[in-house]
Amino acid sequence: MRYQSARMDQIPPYMFAELGKKKAAMIKSGIDVIDLGIGDPDLPTPAHIVDKLVEEARKPENLRYPQFSGHPVFRKAVAEFYKREYGIELDPETEVLALIGSKEGLSHLVPVMIDPGEIVLVPDPCYPPYRMAALLAGGKYHDMPMVKENGFLPDFEEIPENVLEKARLMFLNYPGNPTAAVVDGPFFQNAVDFAKDKGIIIAHDSAYNKVAFSGYKPPSILEARGAKDVAVEFGSLSKTYCMTGWRIGYVVGNRDVIKALAVFKSNTDTGVFTPIQLAGAHAILSDQTCVDTHNDIYFARMKGMIEALQEIGIEVEPPKASFFIWAPVPAGYSSTGFAEAVLEQAGVIVTPGSAFGPSGEGYFRISLSVPNARLDEAIGRIKRKIKI
Ligand SMILES: Cc1ncc(COP(=O)(O)O)c(C=O)c1O
Repeated sequence: MRYQSARMDQIPPYMFAELGKKKAAMIKSGIDVIDLGIGDPDLPTPAHIVDKLVEEARKPENLRYPQFSGHPVFRKAVAEFYKREYGIELDPETEVLALIGSKEGLSHLVPVMIDPGEIVLVPDPCYPPYRMAALLAGGKYHDMPMVKENGFLPDFEEIPENVLEKARLMFLNYPGNPTAAVVDGPFFQNAVDFAKDKGIIIAHDSAYNKVAFSGYKPPSILEARGAKDVAVEFGSLSKTYCMTGWRIGYVVGNRDVIKALAVFKSNTDTGVFTPIQLAGAHAILSDQTCVDTHNDIYFARMKGMIEALQEIGIEVEPPKASFFIWAPVPAGYSSTGFAEAVLEQAGVIVTPGSAFGPSGEGYFRISLSVPNARLDEAIGRIKRKIKI
């Protein structure tokens, strides 16, 4: 008897699901594990957003099937966000689609865009679902290596011609996970021009678009000239408003791509619970002080952790955005070897860079989405216990 397809045979268990099992086993055996692995904000969703959810959940008309492409109020709020933040006009009806979190949408975009045998270009290292979605769609992925010397940007000129012939979709992600790298407008312009020239659609993942510090403002790819011809941009309420568990995100941009994704989704899912969409719209449109407050907290945590890493001899540039630190492993260690040493010696989970792709080897990622007291404890343990 066959219990899964050949496509599924290629898919490993999701890295963070596996890490979660390992962590649970360690905790069961009495070890006080501090998890700096997954990027799941510990800060609570601001009360005004929760209150709105409760208010909307009390209305019977909001408890029925949601509208397939998203509630008009939510789609309009996303369009207003783009106008407010970037001065970009979006038609809420045709250029905005609600998603069950951005992970759902960016994974489902892949079978919408590629046929079996075709190629998805992915940054290396990257958020793992980009690659898995390509395999699940019967396609392939091509890693675009990103190195420190190049600011963790892909070099489009390095993509071989035979790969470009079969490439239909390219993922980009800035501010980047796991590298915390950022870009400026000219990078996106170059990407859009390249994609137009080669007939490739760009999916820009902007999950960390509002997690930024020191006056840095991440740009939108839609600010680039002609972007709407070839690009869509994924956004999420997960990180900005500490709403990871709510499952709400959106995609904006090219209307043909959005239309095709909407057709796919209406055949496979039935959208986001309406009160969540209305609370999400409220989050986007109401006072944004909470976003700055969250960023101040992440920035303070970042400073503390970077100092601790420096004390044990690991040099890291302070990131301008995201709540990740992407740091080189000490000489003589592999990524997994160092992550194991940190777990064994300090009881702290960090993610080995190689989990994000071959170019992640030689690095590890720390997520700062744990309460201050736990982070201080982790910092103390790293300083005391890690021997390099
Ligand atoms: C780069 C990146 N994109 C997308 C997501 C998924 O976010 P969401 O909660 O909107 O599905 C994450 C979550 O960690 C992420 O790191």
